[in-house]
Amino acid sequence: MNTERYILVTGGAGYIGSHTVIELLDAGYTPVIADDMRNAHPLILQGVREITGQEILHYSIDITDQSVLDHLLKKYKFVGIIHFAANKAVGESVADPLMYYRNNIGGLVSVLECAQENQVKSIVFSSSCTVYGDPGEQKEVDEKTPLVKANSPYGNTKLIGEQILHDLFMSDPVFKIMSLRYFNPVGAHSSALIGEFPLGKPNNLLPYVTQTAIGKQAELTVFGNDYPTPDGTCIRDYIHVCDLAKAHVKALSWLNNQNAGCNEQVNIGTGKGTSVLELISAFERISQQKLNWRFGPRRPGDVTEIFANADKSKQLLNWEAHRSMEDAVRDAWNWELNLKEHA
Ligand code: UFG
Repeated sequence: MNTERYILVTGGAGYIGSHTVIELLDAGYTPVIADDMRNAHPLILQGVREITGQEILHYSIDITDQSVLDHLLKKYKFVGIIHFAANKAVGESVADPLMYYRNNIGGLVSVLECAQENQVKSIVFSSSCTVYGDPGEQKEVDEKTPLVKANSPYGNTKLIGEQILHDLFMSDPVFKIMSLRYFNPVGAHSSALIGEFPLGKPNNLLPYVTQTAIGKQAELTVFGNDYPTPDGTCIRDYIHVCDLAKAHVKALSWLNNQNAGCNEQVNIGTGKGTSVLELISAFERISQQKLNWRFGPRRPGDVTEIFANADKSKQLLNWEAHRSMEDAVRDAWNWELNLKEHA
């Protein structure tokens, strides 16, 4: 009898997906990746093989193609699905909203229809703190913080995604669903064999910092220095990608241990805020590099300050972040150095 515990990991060759695949293997699951590699680099899967010493089950399929996805769900008896596959650049989503609705909403619906058809009940969904919008004075948000209208099509796909999961659960309460609301994922695997691999110009802060230091970008612009924070720059909750990856395994195990259906939302963050300037100075200290940066105007849509109330993840999943922002900066820099050496 086949005793493998297969997990479908859509977008498993991507940044968070690849780190999660490693944690799944470590926990004794057998991840099966569905990723058509449109936003991923083959080097990452190679890195996962090297780190784990295992062959990786990978299918290059478009998850919005339901008949193809259904075929995969019939081939394996999955005990859960972790659904990462989605686009995630705010600016791009404003320029091309239909692509975001097709991939992020169409992809989710396709995954859920296949799950329902094939009786896979446990679903972990990649959500984002973007669902809280601008928390204003509150800054620390817990899962009961009211959700607000999204300020980009990308943010809207996460909000609608959670709504779709809610509606599905109301209609079919055998589903066991958990939306993980990520704060700001950063860092890389400590082996430096995998990490974030932005195709094109990075949108996020830390990859922009490391790419500037290595010479791929000329200069980092710090967006705004007149925010009402101690140093005038925005504050975020930077969560190490390996801690985040482990949260997915905890979420999956928790879901699989439930006797009844459920639909939960859980913040995944450290509970600690870091400003842009604090992150830059940590980078300079750790890398021993002087970073070329200057202040520029505010970036439209940025919230001043947001960080997680991380109590629920601890209580429900017995998960909390163990790595610091400094750990993430060091690992991201080592990954950038390793990329340069092997490029
Ligand atoms: N920043 C810079 N310069 C850069 C890039 C970023 O100063 O070149 C600043 C931003 O203004 C912000 C901070 O660094 O203050 C973090 O920015 P990121 O783009 O790395 O992350 P965001 O907090 O903007 O984005 C996150 C998630 C998105 C989500 C968004 C919702 O990565 O998925 O929160 O606000 F949509």
